[in-house]
Amino acid sequence: LGADGRASKRVFLAAPRGFCAGVDRAIQIVEKSIERYGAPVYVRHEIVHNRHVVDRLSGLGAVFVAELSECPDDRPVVFSAHGVPKSVPRAAEARNLNFLDATCPLVSKVHVEAERHAKNGRHILLIGHTGHPEVIGTMGQLPEGDISLIETEEDARNFSPADPENLALVTQTTLSVDDTAGLIAILQERFPSIALPFKEDICYATTNRQAAVKAIAERCDLLLVIGSQKSSNSKRLVEVGAKGGADESMLISDADSLDWDRVDAAKTIGLSAGASAPEYLTNGVLAALRSRYDVTVEEVEVVKEKVVFRLPRQLLSA
Ligand code: F3S
Repeated sequence: LGADGRASKRVFLAAPRGFCAGVDRAIQIVEKSIERYGAPVYVRHEIVHNRHVVDRLSGLGAVFVAELSECPDDRPVVFSAHGVPKSVPRAAEARNLNFLDATCPLVSKVHVEAERHAKNGRHILLIGHTGHPEVIGTMGQLPEGDISLIETEEDARNFSPADPENLALVTQTTLSVDDTAGLIAILQERFPSIALPFKEDICYATTNRQAAVKAIAERCDLLLVIGSQKSSNSKRLVEVGAKGGADESMLISDADSLDWDRVDAAKTIGLSAGASAPEYLTNGVLAALRSRYDVTVEEVEVVKEKVVFRLPRQLLSA
């Protein structure tokens, strides 16, 4: 018990956590488009996978749609941070729409790599998760059939290419660093001449957030990761926490979704947040914990991040 008779909890706060430069840029693109062009501004797909972010932007005048066909001709439309198949900007151009691309530059980098490999006559393997918008966007950079998706070790073992000497590999940016290394090792052993990314495609934010969770996991009775069920990088943080030694590791969307029986049972609690979760959600969880317990917080920072991405030219000019 703490000095005031309340139960004591030790909280390890992982750093870095929360917003990455790509999410920050995507949100700014929507905000600045609304400032510049007035509401409504259409957004194709959830700009980032977080309901709190989407609800706040809706309040400012953003209208979220699943497909371009739902957007009127006379309003601007923003493409989400996850990237889009080539067919989407093509369709927007054909309709003369004012479109703003919020694709994270680190996702665009993977798109460019895939195109370069295809030009060099290589068949491309993409390590990623079926159905995730980033995977749909990356596969859609090239004609159907030019990219094969590898999701599991089984896929990596069973893949049989027409020309094993002419393969290249790209990955989703938000994968588990360790699981991906395992898949790459299998593919490299089977296809020694496969072209690998110059520097890995998993982005700095994913890598750093996973390293920070690893640094605290072993000390945690309970690890809480703030993020959405749809958020790939958040779900990977939960897995990394479990593998790293946290007794229990779970995804929560915000303070309201805390499971108090589990929190009660834990003496040490780890806290992190996925790249699309705003910092106020972390503060909300800390405040909820402080309202019930005698809490001591220790921030464990594994690296300082200084990455910032420029906004599209359309929004910079006067
Ligand atoms: Fe970009 Fe990585 Fe964030 S790819 S959107 S910096 S999670």
